[in-house]
Amino acid sequence: MKKKWRQKVIKNLKNFISVNDVENIDALVQKALAYKADPFKNKSIGTNKRIGCLFLNPSMRTRLSTQIAAQNLGMEAVVFNVGQEGWAMEFEDGAVMNGSTVEHIKDAAPVLGKYFDILAVRTFPALKNKEDDYSELYMKQFIKYAGVPIVSLESATLHPLQSLTDLITIEEQRKKLKMKNEKLKIVLSWAPHVKPLPQCVANSFAQWVNAWGKANFVITHPEGYELDEQFTSGVTVNINQDEALKDADFVYVKNWSCYNDYGKILNTDESWMLTNTKLTVTNNAKVMHCLPVRRNVELSDEILNGPNSIVTKQAANRVWGAQAVLSEILESLK
Ligand code: CP
Repeated sequence: MKKKWRQKVIKNLKNFISVNDVENIDALVQKALAYKADPFKNKSIGTNKRIGCLFLNPSMRTRLSTQIAAQNLGMEAVVFNVGQEGWAMEFEDGAVMNGSTVEHIKDAAPVLGKYFDILAVRTFPALKNKEDDYSELYMKQFIKYAGVPIVSLESATLHPLQSLTDLITIEEQRKKLKMKNEKLKIVLSWAPHVKPLPQCVANSFAQWVNAWGKANFVITHPEGYELDEQFTSGVTVNINQDEALKDADFVYVKNWSCYNDYGKILNTDESWMLTNTKLTVTNNAKVMHCLPVRRNVELSDEILNGPNSIVTKQAANRVWGAQAVLSEILESLK
């Protein structure tokens, strides 16, 4: 019975890179909520297993929640800040390594695959060349050469553990507030920022909400901030934020840099920052953000300190999303 349920949840039992690896989103969300209710119910499933968490970029929530999730399952988690402490890694096939890179992924990944049962990897896009970033070379090279399951802790274009957690949080709130699925309105609202940020969180949220298919989903952003259609196909886009926010149950606030004019900032209009006044047209919407957030740039103090913000609950839920995914992969290793 247990095995049957597992097989329904994850289609590709090896890696967790995007929503495409998940066959049944609802089952995975419910699994995460079951771990929230009883964190140690599977505390032996990871005994004698080790996860390597490799960070090419900084992190707080992803790093700590993944470590805690692994420990709740009895695994040992080892964190390696490759970007700061490791040899500079080369990812290009055929590279002549006479520059700054010291070790090729073809040599490093198989070694890491011998040390660990699962590898979890965080990379960011360089935001210089769209084709390079959207090729997801880093993640693909780890998958190709490590020989063990790979979990994305955020890649150049996606942040699947974040998006799974976002749906867990929405589902939890939906139940608590007794909202009906068919009436649920979710708005992804662009926010200003002082630095060019990746499109990962927005792409991934759009991809997961689309695949979930249970909400009236609207994206609002200034002109020029259109996301890659491979993630937003069929989604309503409205460049009028006030219109888009009308009757929203959840507003997910996030900045991203341009996809078309790649990596650029075209707009810093502070009127796009969500305020309590803007929230008045919503259905008393819950406000989400993946964090870290720039206060009074992306989101106002009044929202973050107020009753509509669920950002702390959302971040806390990162543990249960990671635990659901790791337990599925551990099952597949049996
Ligand atoms: N949301 C998120 O990924 O947070 P960290 O960058 O702190 O991991």
